[in-house]
Amino acid sequence: MAKVVLTKELPEELLEVLKGEGEHEVVVVPDTGESFSADLNRELKDATALISTKVKINKDLLEEAPDLRIVSTISVGYDNFDVEAMKQAQVIGTHTPGVLDETVADLTFGLILSSARRIAELDQVIREGGWTVGDDLAFYGTDVHHKTLGIIGMGRIGEKIAKRAIFGFGMNVLYYNRSQKPETEERLGVHYASFDEVLSQSDFVVVVTPLTDETYHLFDRAAFQKMKSTAYFINVSRGQTVDEDALLQALESGEISGAALDVYDKEPVRPDHPLLRLRNVTLTPHIGSAVVQTRFDMAALAVQNVKAFLEKGTPPSVIPELACLLQ
Ligand code: DGY
Repeated sequence: MAKVVLTKELPEELLEVLKGEGEHEVVVVPDTGESFSADLNRELKDATALISTKVKINKDLLEEAPDLRIVSTISVGYDNFDVEAMKQAQVIGTHTPGVLDETVADLTFGLILSSARRIAELDQVIREGGWTVGDDLAFYGTDVHHKTLGIIGMGRIGEKIAKRAIFGFGMNVLYYNRSQKPETEERLGVHYASFDEVLSQSDFVVVVTPLTDETYHLFDRAAFQKMKSTAYFINVSRGQTVDEDALLQALESGEISGAALDVYDKEPVRPDHPLLRLRNVTLTPHIGSAVVQTRFDMAALAVQNVKAFLEKGTPPSVIPELACLLQ
């Protein structure tokens, strides 16, 4: 019988799938309490599988878990995996691609629209009694339709955003990606451009690239200086792709018009973070995939990854860097 540790409660029907006909033992260690780290280490001592979201999988954790064979994260991003340490320890890593793409693309469009038409900002204005009789000049925003959208990272989510932009809003879509995607260009009508070109030509710049050593602080002072002063910056990837001090400077100095952020360098973001003082910033608490059905589908895929690995040795969504461990 294999022991599977979870760091969050899952719906009963998924727990049943995981347990099977009494084949696997399931232990939940909620990632909330102060003793979480110690509790997790204790349970991992004889565990074969771990299903979690943000737990850092590094050498220290792996040393506490000599029998661990698979870590299944309930997220598409897996920047919490130390891939080299996992390779050394022969621990497979899986994630949940595909099931959240449309949901994240919806939120991204919400953030684009909120920035351009100042929805969150003007909601606040009304609540503070700032809507008085007279001209509404002070409430003017900018159009989204037929503008240029720049997408940094043309993966599955980037494609869903591009589709909405092109077929819903008649936008011109530029993208930058590590590799050019001719098939996607042909199918959707998006245009490849260099990173600098995307920044300098776009009215909205959306970041959906995974966090890696190459994308850490990709948006620094120089990057924001390349953007149009009328442009908006939207981040739905990971907070560390952005140097937040540089973003703050760009927003305060008027180098860019505004920003919308779903992710932050440190989460939860501090209530006294200087970005929270700015009116031209829309903020959401890392809710890209936070929809009941989508979160269920992500959890179901995470469970499926563990089940398939334990029973057949072939999880459906192994991360590419660790696929070599399955051969
Ligand atoms: C992911 O899946 O990586 C998302 O950021 C979680 O909402």
